[in-house]
Amino acid sequence: MKQNSLGKEEKEKKAPPGKKILKRIAVLTSGGDCSGMNACIRSITRTALQQGIEVYGFRKGFQGVLSNDFISLDNRSVSSKIGRGGTFLQSARCLEFKTPEGLQLGYDNLIDLGIDGLAVIGGDGSLTGAQKLHEKGFPTIGIPASIDNDLFGTDMSIGTDTALNAIVHAVDMIRDTASSHDRMFIIEVMGRNCGYLALASAVACGAEAAIIPEIPTNCDIIARRLKRRFKEKKTNSIILVAEGASSASQIAEELQNKVGYDSRVSVLGHIQRGGNATVFDRILASKLGRNAVFALEEGQSGIMMTYSKGTYSSIELTEVIRQQRPLSQGLLELAGLLEN
Ligand code: ADP
Ligand code: F6P
Ligand code: MG
Repeated sequence: MKQNSLGKEEKEKKAPPGKKILKRIAVLTSGGDCSGMNACIRSITRTALQQGIEVYGFRKGFQGVLSNDFISLDNRSVSSKIGRGGTFLQSARCLEFKTPEGLQLGYDNLIDLGIDGLAVIGGDGSLTGAQKLHEKGFPTIGIPASIDNDLFGTDMSIGTDTALNAIVHAVDMIRDTASSHDRMFIIEVMGRNCGYLALASAVACGAEAAIIPEIPTNCDIIARRLKRRFKEKKTNSIILVAEGASSASQIAEELQNKVGYDSRVSVLGHIQRGGNATVFDRILASKLGRNAVFALEEGQSGIMMTYSKGTYSSIELTEVIRQQRPLSQGLLELAGLLEN
């Protein structure tokens, strides 16, 4: 028996086979926020506490690591958080962390705080930061969270499903008014370098076209299709544009006067990033968060937790960073089938 700091006798903890004894881990959310981040923080916190591990939450991503801005998380701190959009730890884009000096300061602070492992919830940039910490020798696990769904190695990232539902809800409403006026709407959605949101929502809304960065746009083909629809007295047409491919106003300009429809533009913007998380995102975030704690206990580092082909697993962060996520051929095929 050992004595703890309060003088009480305490059984020395022994790690079960294949597991490390972790005293304290930390979590942060970084980059663009998304719904489901809170559910993930909650899951990490509750899983770790159940295992007798203390949890710190850094505020504002890597910025909190550099300024030692953190809170101690207990069961109460994460109650009623599972569905809430955004991230209660807040997020930030911290440029200093990208410098060698910033990285070193972050590493030193984590060591000085007695933290045994870190879970980084975020997109490709944040996961690059996670990999850098791992390369320095600090146990770090990545969790994919980005509405863009642009990360290699996981079929879904946290936040994508909620964003898709927000888009579909908005487009359904826009179609109502469009059809009352024989209008076409060019609707711009997020997705910096990735057309997933535009393509998946186009399929789900039965849109007439999706303009995405992965495929060169031929506005003449789209114009011909829309003109035919107008002649056939179809009361509306909807085109989804990924911001990474073009802008809604640019596409509207190109199609103007070629198709017959009166046109309007709508940029959905940050409504795609907020709102209560969907059931899918709550469960995905909870499972990935739990698995991240288990991975740290197993002594793993430099990996991202994944959900692929219906199975939860993990992939090396170097693979995630190195590779471009391929466009979903299944979705592309479906988008083609639904055109008329
Ligand atoms: P996202 O994670 O959503 O892709 P960003 O690309 O803006 O968002 O990255 C978020 C943060 O991750 C950056 O502000 C920075 O703190 C950290 N980060 C990004 N790239 C690197 C890098 N090469 N080295 C260290 N940290 C990085
Ligand atoms: O990466 C997520 C994302 O929402 C992109 O889709 C979008 O281009 C970008 O972040 C917007 O970032 P900000 O909130 O800084 O304008
Ligand atoms: Mg990114």
